[in-house]
Amino acid sequence: MAGDIGDKLSSLGLQEVGKAKNPVSPYRQHIAEKLAPIVDRKVEDIAPLVSWTTSPDKGDLMLPVAAFRIKGKSPQDLAKEIVESFPTGEDILVTASQAGPFVQFFFKPEHLTQVVIPEILKSKNAYGSDPTPGLKDPSDPSQGHKKVIVEFSSPNIAKEFHAGHLRSTIIGGFLAKLYARTGWDVIKMNYLGDWGKQYGLLANGFKQFGSQEELDKNSIAHLFQVYVKINQIKSQQDEPINELKKEIKEKKAKGEDTTELENKLAPLVEASEDEKARKYFKSMEDGDPEALALWQQFRDMSIEKYKKTYARLNIDFDVYSGESQVKQETIKKVLDDLLAKKIAEESEGAILIDFAKHGAKKLNKAVIVRRDGTPLYLTRDLAAILERYETYHFDKMIYVIADQQNEHVAQLFKTTEISGHKDISDRCEHISFGMVKGMSTRKGTVKFLDDVIQSVKDVMLDVMQKNAKKYEQLEDPDAVADILAITAIMVQDLTGKVRNGYEFNINQMTAFEGDTGPYLQYAHARLCSIERKANADLSTLDSADLSLLKEPHAVNLVRALAQYPDVVMNTLKTREPSTVLTYLFKMAHALSSSYDHLQVVGSEPELQKARLALYEAARQVLWNGMTLLGLTPVQRM
Ligand code: ARG
Repeated sequence: MAGDIGDKLSSLGLQEVGKAKNPVSPYRQHIAEKLAPIVDRKVEDIAPLVSWTTSPDKGDLMLPVAAFRIKGKSPQDLAKEIVESFPTGEDILVTASQAGPFVQFFFKPEHLTQVVIPEILKSKNAYGSDPTPGLKDPSDPSQGHKKVIVEFSSPNIAKEFHAGHLRSTIIGGFLAKLYARTGWDVIKMNYLGDWGKQYGLLANGFKQFGSQEELDKNSIAHLFQVYVKINQIKSQQDEPINELKKEIKEKKAKGEDTTELENKLAPLVEASEDEKARKYFKSMEDGDPEALALWQQFRDMSIEKYKKTYARLNIDFDVYSGESQVKQETIKKVLDDLLAKKIAEESEGAILIDFAKHGAKKLNKAVIVRRDGTPLYLTRDLAAILERYETYHFDKMIYVIADQQNEHVAQLFKTTEISGHKDISDRCEHISFGMVKGMSTRKGTVKFLDDVIQSVKDVMLDVMQKNAKKYEQLEDPDAVADILAITAIMVQDLTGKVRNGYEFNINQMTAFEGDTGPYLQYAHARLCSIERKANADLSTLDSADLSLLKEPHAVNLVRALAQYPDVVMNTLKTREPSTVLTYLFKMAHALSSSYDHLQVVGSEPELQKARLALYEAARQVLWNGMTLLGLTPVQRM
């Protein structure tokens, strides 16, 4: 029987998707073929309209009849007609029913089970991956794959790794995995904040309070200490300087003489850390080898440390780029071009772009060269976009940056567009996300990602120890707590819409109840435990008699498993991690309500084997979804 159905489905055009197949595709095709004569449309036009559903009671696939745009007939009436004419019979794989203007299709479970479970057991972690969307030409795979740069994380060396960087890291990591699993060539890029006057400040600070030993031990923390200390000094110096500047301005406005005040101001400025930093940075810009060597050391050591922390989140980068890597000559070319094209203009010794003059009043004005001749953050980004296109010829570039920088990114894209590079700006996209509020350790506000993880881990360990029996069975409780803490943080971050912010809540994220990271991990670990207790030989599951899986709970699980490849495809449209996460939680709920009905230990050997095949398929899908989100599924907890 299983072979029969397999043959029938492949004759229906079960689509090859790399090594994995989407078990729903042949159903979609089957439905479209049956619908074609009823609605008098071509099969290829109907198939894309047959869409997935968000809950099983709405069918396995559905057709919004209004999409046919047939005049003179209400979608309700048409839906009714379609259902009445839809063929029935043994060889029809679905049943159709009407729900208002929709036709809902329900897969016949006998067929579905025989197709879905073997497919998952066979394609394993490839299930749900489909390289077609990333093909340059889907009808000719030899044309190769499209290229996407995902720029994310991008912290600033020597400053804190704040909540915005954490979110960018988590969301960007997810997007990179999503594109990779759907056939794109992905370049993961970290654009470090590693250039600017603050490196002059840092270097001078290091000369005063730095220690090479501390730097070797924990570069990021030490550099941050130095930075904070020198910044305090700078702020203290800034106060009287700013006072004087204000006084001078007021006097000037009244037309009074300011020579005396200016004489007082000059030596203060000259001796200030701010001025020293400016000079130091100038020497870096001018290529002074000694200044650059120290900066290079800070950068290299920081990257080494970042890499270790990123690895805890299952993230690595292909390119550590950064503001420092943007070539001066490209910056100069951009500036010359913007001036020549009259996009940028001089204003009081600085150079700026007035977007109102280019039909984008909302974007205000942006300075691109300071009065002292130095370029800015935006200027470097403008040059970087061109350099990246030149180097990678990307089909798409995604910037994962907090919504606080919406204006900056809009200015960047707009300027690129109007300066004659619309072909490039059209390929660029900003994934803008809302802020995390209240990210702090129990002791206070955090500075580094490792501190955040540690403080969640402390709570996680407390929660785990409440179940002493289980805790004792763990070989390495610390490692498990580490993974669970990271899962907790990431799941909380990935739960809401990307554009919405959220409140960082350690107690909530570490709870075992509710749709939390630990709950999801528990769903996976429980399946592992069932397999362990049954002493299952997973390699023999392909001979299981799946027709034994008749119970409504089993059928519903299979229906959910069938949806996973469509969930991934839909995620490529929404680019919302919550699309995957919501699915995984539904799956976890369906599983936990099934265990009592579908016991393994204690049932007949054949039934036991069939149920194990179902559970192993479910575990695989959880694993695939969790790793797509960047999580590390645990075996025990
Ligand atoms: N380093 C910047 C910050 O921390 C983020 C960089 C975002 N990327 C970019 N191409 N501007 O604010």
